[in-house]
Amino acid sequence: MTPLCIKWTDKFNIGVTMLDEQHRGLVSIINSFYYHKSDAVVERFLAPTADTLFAFCRIHFMTEEAMMEEAEYPELEDHRKVHRDTFSTLEKLRYECSRDKDPDRFMQFLKDYWNQHVNDYDRRYVKTLHEYFDL
Ligand SMILES: [Fe+2]
Ligand SMILES: [Fe+2]
Repeated sequence: MTPLCIKWTDKFNIGVTMLDEQHRGLVSIINSFYYHKSDAVVERFLAPTADTLFAFCRIHFMTEEAMMEEAEYPELEDHRKVHRDTFSTLEKLRYECSRDKDPDRFMQFLKDYWNQHVNDYDRRYVKTLHEYFDL
């Protein structure tokens, strides 16, 4: 059986239960696409994965932004912009990678999003949220 692309471990937790649950959901979407990556028809999974990610990220970004707003996180507007840019990139890649039958480029986007956004950029708001919500 294909191994998981990302195996969830406690080090991924940021200590905000709702957001940790949603981040787990993202891992599930990424792993599902990775599972089919060696299939001959992997490109068929690209559009549904992008659609699912788009819908799920809409919910996740709204949750994250609502919490940051409530906690008066000073970098909220920058974070909002990064979320908007992620949507734009996803739209573009959905089209281009489907057209070019290029699942590798799409997979790279998923990995970069996980590493650079969830496991790096998202970490910036953790201190503010912990202090505000007394976690
Ligand atoms: Fe996030
Ligand atoms: Fe975020």
